[in-house]
Amino acid sequence: MKNQIAIIGFGTVGSGVAEVFYKNRSAIEKKAGSCLDIKYIVDIRSLEGTPYANKWTKDFQVVLDDEDVAVVIETIGGLTPAFDFSKRALQAGKHVVTSNKELVATHGAELLKIAREHNVNYLFEASVGGGIPLIHPLYQCLGAGDITEVAGILNGTTNFIMTRMFEDQMSFEDALKMAQANGYAEANPSADVEGKDACRKICILSSLIYGKHVYPDEVHTEGITGITLEDVQAASAAGYAVRLIGRVKKDSNGLIAMVSPALVSKKGQLGNITDVFNGVLVRGSDLGDVMFYGRGAGKTPTASAVLSDVIDAVRAGGNISILGWEDAPHNTNGDYLDDVTRMMIRVPASAEKAAGALFGAEEAITPAPAGEAAFLTGPLSGRKVQELCAQAKEQGIEVLSALRVLEY
Ligand code: HSE
Repeated sequence: MKNQIAIIGFGTVGSGVAEVFYKNRSAIEKKAGSCLDIKYIVDIRSLEGTPYANKWTKDFQVVLDDEDVAVVIETIGGLTPAFDFSKRALQAGKHVVTSNKELVATHGAELLKIAREHNVNYLFEASVGGGIPLIHPLYQCLGAGDITEVAGILNGTTNFIMTRMFEDQMSFEDALKMAQANGYAEANPSADVEGKDACRKICILSSLIYGKHVYPDEVHTEGITGITLEDVQAASAAGYAVRLIGRVKKDSNGLIAMVSPALVSKKGQLGNITDVFNGVLVRGSDLGDVMFYGRGAGKTPTASAVLSDVIDAVRAGGNISILGWEDAPHNTNGDYLDDVTRMMIRVPASAEKAAGALFGAEEAITPAPAGEAAFLTGPLSGRKVQELCAQAKEQGIEVLSALRVLEY
């Protein structure tokens, strides 16, 4: 039978793909317009004793040599061996579908080029926003207008941790363990909490809206490890929630992308997103604001996005998708220090007056955490905030935290 599928990497997402495929097989086949089956599952771990034992192989070459395999699903994650396997599958004339955001963010332009050269598709709907249909709608929106800004909660694990910590007073470690048990976290969860996972995702969205590859090492990235209960209390007193936000802005000078914790209105589109949910705000010149919302991580939501790409790949046959972008030199993007936002500043209570005068306090926050003062500034560039923090240090003012305030 033609249109056979091979899954490479049988972890959380790969096993979710098999589970959802066999649960919804007839509907998937109907939408794809073709009979489909999973012929191979490639993994270094044996699948003996599982329902998939007869599909298991360690040898990826078997998949490449089998002309019946039309689609390779890469759910290995990471760069090695996923990059090499994806290249070889595309070069062998097989569509490749992936949830691997690290690979797409790092080598997407090259893999898209190889796919075009071999008249097949490289599709990655599951790489951003888990089960939320985001990549295809975003790309299609571009057909009619210009996307000027994207801002989102792009990492379910950190959103889950922050929600559990601040709503249930759960410890960081316990909340992280729970996220891992639910299959949300990366194999190495430092990629979640240090913002690297969100960075990869904003790179993919930036590349899509820019049409040129935006590399992770060009995007300023801060994680949530420095966020304290006092930050959240002060933000909350001012009407804000603290969230890890990946964002990109595009104008005639180019594009500025970054990832950082930031204050967003508690009643706004991003501030009320809790637990593992992701939310992505897309702002277009003609489109206005569009919000995407749903489960951003987890086994079956991500698997469902993978399978939607399988349907697209099979239905497209030899018609290659125009979804994608071109390669670009590194370091062509704008400087994040030029980005201008209001700031929330926390200082010891004794420094309230001096810090308020230095940073230009516009709005005092009450109540501030015990023994502290907190206030909101007017709009300041990142560069100006760095200068003011350096001056504060010279004047003996201890800045406890300086967090961006975003108007979403
Ligand atoms: N670790 C990721 C997250 C998985 O928590 O969002 C989905 O990409």
